[in-house]
Amino acid sequence: MILPRDASLFCLFLTLITTSCTFASNQDANNPHQDDLLPPLESDFKSYPNLANITDEERALFHPILKFPTHFKKIPVLDCTQATGLATESQRKRSKIRDKLFGLVWRNVIVNLITDSEVVRKVPWKSSKWGFGKYDEDRRAMYTSSVFDAENVVDGYSGARTVHLGIDLGAPVGTKVYAFADGVVHSVGYNEGHGDYGFVVVIEHTLPLSSTKIWALYGHMDRATSRNKSPGTPIQKGQVIGGIGDCHENGGWSAPHCHFQVSMRPPMTHDMPGACSVQDRPIALSEYFDPRYVLGQIY
Ligand SMILES: *[C@@H]1O[C@H](CO)[C@@H](O)[C@H](O)[C@H]1NC(C)=O
Ligand SMILES: [Zn+2]
Repeated sequence: MILPRDASLFCLFLTLITTSCTFASNQDANNPHQDDLLPPLESDFKSYPNLANITDEERALFHPILKFPTHFKKIPVLDCTQATGLATESQRKRSKIRDKLFGLVWRNVIVNLITDSEVVRKVPWKSSKWGFGKYDEDRRAMYTSSVFDAENVVDGYSGARTVHLGIDLGAPVGTKVYAFADGVVHSVGYNEGHGDYGFVVVIEHTLPLSSTKIWALYGHMDRATSRNKSPGTPIQKGQVIGGIGDCHENGGWSAPHCHFQVSMRPPMTHDMPGACSVQDRPIALSEYFDPRYVLGQIY
């Protein structure tokens, strides 16, 4: 009776020692951004470092990226830690056909009316399409496609990438997406992998008060986003840069949304790691800051 208990206590002791050794060696790694300085996952606005030093005064000068319906008291915040959001092959085929048949009318007339007219935006119409997806949320149940695999390294970020580094702005297909400030196109393209960004544009924005440069990625967009844009194309604050893409053009996601991510350094190409591994979180959060410094306190 006594021996097994002692043995298990000894095992527990060993486990504790080993755990603290592993922890200590992680801390010793030549990474200046220590885990213990970071706020916990899914923290509140302003808990994260304000890397671009965006003041409330400067934020008030930004144009909204999407115009949300004004009748909602609060736009719902979606819990993206559970389900996977990828569309099936047949959903993507149907969306492609729907786009060919009704795309022009839907995107250019109906959606404009719903999302752009100040009057219609105040009408209480029911839609579950609107919502926010959180920054710094661990989505290991959702990011199951090979795009997020350890083998697929993006800008030096490797490992099983599950921690979301942008904010998702959920809205109906075709909803206009606006540039929040002046800038120039850094890069534009189509990241076709299943679970990737689909049509995507990166804009080098110059902040209006500080003149600091930051790089913003707008992902999961529609085909029109890629038209008339190449590196260096000037972009003005409030300019429509494209629309929310459907699942045959947005990387295969069933819930239409814009992934908005902000970086302190230019990416290599029209891509940023939209998610990072738990191990890379300290360095990622020192590079891709909380988009609420641009969007305001949306949740
Ligand atoms: C933000 O402010 C800090 C502290 O004053 C400064 O060290 C840093 O360089 C600033 N960052 C930018 C991008 O201006
Ligand atoms: Zn996202």
